[in-house]
Amino acid sequence: MSENKASKGTYYISTPIYYPSSNLHIGHTYCTVMADAVARFKRLSGYDVHFLTGTDEHGLKIQKIAEEKGVTPQEYVDEIVAGVKKLWATMEISYDDFIRTTEPRHVRRVQAIFNKMNEKGDIYKGEYEGWYCTPCESFWTESQLVNGCCPDCGRPVEKAHEKAYFFRLSKYQDRILELFEKNPDFLKPDTRRHEMEEFVRQGLEDLCISRSTFKWGIPVPGDPEHVIYVWLDALTNYITALGYPDDPELYNKYWPADVHLVGKEIVRFHSIIWPAMLMSLDLPLPKQVLGHGWLLIDGGKMSKSKGNVVDPVVLIDRYGIDALKYFLLREYTFGQDGVFTNEVMLKRMNFDLANDLGNLVSRTTAMIEKYCGGVIPKAETEDEIDRELKSLAVSVAPEVEKDMDRFAFNSALENIWVLVRRANKYIDEKTPWILAKDESRKAELDTCMHNLAESLRIISILIYPYMHTTTEKIREQLGITGEIRWEDTFVFDLLEGNKVCRGEAIFPRLDIEKELKELDELKKQQAAAKDGAGENVPLKLKPEIEYGDFDKMDFRVGTILSAEKHPDADRLLVFQVQMGTEKRQIISGVAKDFSPEEMVGKKVIVVANLKPRMLRGMESKGMILFAEDGKHVKLVTTEAPDGNAVN
Ligand code: MSP
Repeated sequence: MSENKASKGTYYISTPIYYPSSNLHIGHTYCTVMADAVARFKRLSGYDVHFLTGTDEHGLKIQKIAEEKGVTPQEYVDEIVAGVKKLWATMEISYDDFIRTTEPRHVRRVQAIFNKMNEKGDIYKGEYEGWYCTPCESFWTESQLVNGCCPDCGRPVEKAHEKAYFFRLSKYQDRILELFEKNPDFLKPDTRRHEMEEFVRQGLEDLCISRSTFKWGIPVPGDPEHVIYVWLDALTNYITALGYPDDPELYNKYWPADVHLVGKEIVRFHSIIWPAMLMSLDLPLPKQVLGHGWLLIDGGKMSKSKGNVVDPVVLIDRYGIDALKYFLLREYTFGQDGVFTNEVMLKRMNFDLANDLGNLVSRTTAMIEKYCGGVIPKAETEDEIDRELKSLAVSVAPEVEKDMDRFAFNSALENIWVLVRRANKYIDEKTPWILAKDESRKAELDTCMHNLAESLRIISILIYPYMHTTTEKIREQLGITGEIRWEDTFVFDLLEGNKVCRGEAIFPRLDIEKELKELDELKKQQAAAKDGAGENVPLKLKPEIEYGDFDKMDFRVGTILSAEKHPDADRLLVFQVQMGTEKRQIISGVAKDFSPEEMVGKKVIVVANLKPRMLRGMESKGMILFAEDGKHVKLVTTEAPDGNAVN
C-alpha cells in the first residue's frame, strides 16, 4: 500500500472483537468498513496507525453451539474465524493485528490482568444472583429488565445464582461520572453520553467477572473451577494485543487508544466498565469511544440469532468491494440507525458510481484518446469555468478532513461527489466535441482534457480511504504511478504527457429490477441450503426432457493443447483440444473470464457431437462445458482420461 510514512504521531483504532457464533453479516461489515476507512485516511494523512480487530471466542453461547454441532468449541471457532479472516481479506481490510481471545498471548495476559486487579483489592469472591440472558451473555439486575426481558435483545431471561468473583465497579462510580463531565468528547455521539451518565448516576453495582456453570473460558488464576466472565476477557483485548503487561513495546507506542469504534449496544461496556478496569490497573484511558447505530432490516435489528441477516459475501461477489463499501459509508449517518434494503443499495451504486464516477472516468479517458492521441495535454488557456473547476478541485480535501474528524463518512463522500458531478457538468459546459471540430480551438480543447484528468487524479486520491481499489483503477487508466499522497489533492497541474489507457467501465450499470429478483432468489437459496431440514426451494430450470433427448448427446473428456485469442472477436478464445485419438478446434466465448495461458493443459468436458459452427470465420467443432451464475464463469473439469465418455 502506498500510504505516507508516519510523521504526525501514532493513531490506534479498534473494532469490537466479533463473536464467532456464526458467520458475520453486513452489520459487522459496516463497523469494520468504517474503521478501515479511518485507518486508511489517517495513514494517508501521515499517522503511524495501528488498527486492531479480532474475535471474542469464549462463553456459554459458543460452548452450546459447538455441543449441538458435535465438535469442540475450539474446532467450532477455528472454522468460523477462518471465515471472518477470509471476509476481511476479500474486502482488503487493512488491519495491523487480529486478536483471538483463545490465543495463548491473550489468555496469559488476561490472567496477569486478573491478578493485578486482585492485588489492587478490586476483586472479591461472592454469591451472584441475577437475571441472565443467554444469547447476550449478560446478567441484568431486576431494575434493568424491560418488561421482564433482556433490555438489549428483548428475549426472556433466567434467574441464576452462583459463587463468583466480582470486580469492584462501584468503587469507580465517581471517577467515571467525572470522566463524562470533564471530557465531553470521551463518548460520542452526545446522546449516548447522556444515556450513560444517567446510567452511572443511578448507581453502579459490582460486576460479576467469573462463571462456574460452563467451562469454555479462561480459567481464573488459582481457582480453575471458575472461568473469567466474558467482558473482562473481551475488553482487555485492546491492551493484550499490544503486549500488555509482559511485552510492552507496542503498548508503550500505541496506548492509549485514539478510538474504540463500537455498536451502540456495547457502548456501556466500553465507556463505563472498560475505563473502570483501566483505572483499577492504573492505566491511561482510551481517548474516545464512538458508538455507531445499527443497520436494521424490515424495521428490526439484523442478528445472527434471528436469522434475518444480509450476507456481505453475496454482495461483494456481485458488485465488488468498493461498491459495497461506498454504499455503507455514503448511505448511513454515523451514530444513527439506518434501514438496509437492496433497492436503496442498487440505486446508490447506479447513480453515484456507474453514472457519476464511472461515466466521468470513461468519458475523460475516451476523449483524451480520441482528441489527444491518448496523451494528457498541457493547459495553455483558462476561462471562468476552468478556474471554477480548478478551485473546487483543490478545496475538497480540507472539507473531507473536517468530516473525517467527526466520523461523518457520508458527508466526506458527498463533498467528493460535489467535485465528481461538477467535473461531469464541466464536460457538458465545455462541449469538447464542438471544440474538436475547430482547429483554432485546439488549445481550449487541450485545457479541457487536462483539467478533467487533473480533477480525476484528485478524486482518485480523495476516495482512497473508502474505495482504494477504484483509486488504483483510475490511476492506472490515467497512467499515474508512484506514491499516493494526500498533499497532491491540494495542487493542480501535476499531469502532463501521461499516457492514458482506457479500461473497462469501473462500475458497470446495473439492471435494478433484474438484480432485485436475483438477490431475492439467492437469499431463498441460501436460506434453504443453510437449513437442510427447512424450506427446499426448487431451482428455476429449463423445461423437462426425456431420457432419449439426453442420450443423444455425446460428452467426452479432452485436454486443451493450446489456446489463443480469436483474431476477429474480443470475446472468443480458440482452443485446440485433444480428445483421445482426435484433435479438434473448439471456440468458446470466455476471453473475458480466462487468459489463453491459464487454459493450456486444463482437462475439459466437451459436447463432442454438436454440429460444427463457423464463428467469425473459424470453425468450432463442439462445445466446452463451463459453470456460471450469470456473473462468474468457472471451468468444469475432471480427472478422467482423454476420450472417455461422460454419461
Ligand atoms: N463480542 C462483543 C464485543 C466485544 S468488544 C470488546 C460483541 N460481539 S458481536 O459480534 O455481537 O457484535 C460486534 C459488533 O457488531 C457490535 O459493535 C455490534 O453493534 C455490531 N453489530 C452487530 N449487528 C449489527 C447491525 N445490524 N448493525 C450494525 N452493527 C451491528 O458484541
